[in-house]
Amino acid sequence: MIEKIHHVGIAVHDLDESLKFYRDTLNLHVHAREEIKDQGVRAALLTIGQSEIELLEPLNADSPIAKFIERKGEGLHHICFQTPDVDAELEAIKQKDIAVIDQKPRKGLAGMICFLHPKASRGVLVELATP
Ligand code: CO
Repeated sequence: MIEKIHHVGIAVHDLDESLKFYRDTLNLHVHAREEIKDQGVRAALLTIGQSEIELLEPLNADSPIAKFIERKGEGLHHICFQTPDVDAELEAIKQKDIAVIDQKPRKGLAGMICFLHPKASRGVLVELATP
């Protein structure tokens, strides 16, 4: 069961520069900031009501976020749907022959997460998360 939009992920060149808008102009609260070396990202999570904005800056040129920005520029990267059971949700989706990026959920910023392939969702990269 999909419960809500957990967060919207945005790819940015420079996290501190982008906070000038999302934090300082919109007055959103930064509730977490993390560097995830194995995923090659520096991230900040901002609270927006019951949902969040996730800003993602690449740490190096090999980072998937760096490659995304190279191809498409900064901007909307993914939408994350919250589910109470990401394992069961992912299995049910795979049963329906939907292409996925992660075969198994893994630890991410938002909890246990996985990504579906954007070709299943009309070009939008979809993340599922159980916080
Ligand atoms: Co995300």
